[in-house]
Amino acid sequence: MSQTSRRPLKRLAITTGGGDAPGLNAVIRAATQSALNRGWEVFGIRDGYCGIIAGEPCIPLRRENVRNIAGLGGTILGTTNCANPFEFHTRYPRSSRRGLAAEIVASELKRQKIDGLIAIGGDGSMSIAYRLYRMGVQVIGVPETIDNDLPGTERTFGFDTAVATATECVDKLQTTAQAHGRIMVVEVMGRHAGWIALHAGISASADAILIPEIPYTMKNVATFLNARRKTGRASAIVVVAEGAREREGAEILQKKIVKGHEPLLGGAGQHVAVQIEQRTGADTRALVLGHIQRGGAPTTFDRLLGLRYGSAAVRLAEAGQWGRMVSFQPPGMTSVSLESTLGRRKCVDVDSDTVLTARELGICLGD
Ligand code: F6P
Repeated sequence: MSQTSRRPLKRLAITTGGGDAPGLNAVIRAATQSALNRGWEVFGIRDGYCGIIAGEPCIPLRRENVRNIAGLGGTILGTTNCANPFEFHTRYPRSSRRGLAAEIVASELKRQKIDGLIAIGGDGSMSIAYRLYRMGVQVIGVPETIDNDLPGTERTFGFDTAVATATECVDKLQTTAQAHGRIMVVEVMGRHAGWIALHAGISASADAILIPEIPYTMKNVATFLNARRKTGRASAIVVVAEGAREREGAEILQKKIVKGHEPLLGGAGQHVAVQIEQRTGADTRALVLGHIQRGGAPTTFDRLLGLRYGSAAVRLAEAGQWGRMVSFQPPGMTSVSLESTLGRRKCVDVDSDTVLTARELGICLGD
């Protein structure tokens, strides 16, 4: 169900939610400029929806606020992935009444005469956007995550930068691994999808890549590494997606539980490293790339993609195509309903040419 309204837009707000990804500021810049060019007023909401829940006035965004920000990492608006407004109750601003935070968002948007909302974020943010839309908020979604796991779009912005960072790090590990004849195991992000591991691993000539879509056995990994060592190649690089799991095993979670946050993955690389050392006897080290993959300036690809997403979102808003998410379907931009993206995940196709390329390069995928 998507609602089309041609009521002239006057005041548009932008929110960035979930884990940040390089390219967010490019979306903010293009959406702001495109909206200002149409004579609309533009505002930002602080830290996901936290600012508006607290009753703060939305932050006016003018041309000078978005000048030269396309190349900046992070988000000038701030973000959070621990404050889903459908999951907590709080006090209404300027009142002693309590209510669901999402109801406060809707009523505050109305009070501040915001008639359109651009919600930028990952799957959690698209689900929040859809639920707000069902409550009557006119909203357009923009898909963002370094994980590239959002369905309905070919590519989320942030992914290209994360892959570039991970590739550069693995390149660096190659030289130290070779110098010491060591096996280096590197864990990369991606949640339950192996996009970052696969793309960075292949690009940086990893010897083994373990991804959630292809459950591995340690026996296969160790056999591969032992055979390689017998040919005189002592060093090896193993890239492990944080969601990778053994064929008979489960995903590995960090012990640390963050309140209001889905369970955090972590430890897959260490798990693999310990077993490699036991099974091969090779000097093995593990490291976790972690949030470095989310930081820094976006690549040119992500800047341009973010800018394209931002202006496409404004075109959708102008056309009154509420309840939709901008979708990158090369070579162009289109849209899908927010509803169609819910409860699904875009995973690596194990029969894709990228996976076949890895196999033909002789990379061990653990299966
Ligand atoms: O979804 C992006 C992501 O970076 C995942 O790859 C990772 O599992 C998670 O967010 C980490 O979340 P946090 O920033 O809360 O540590």
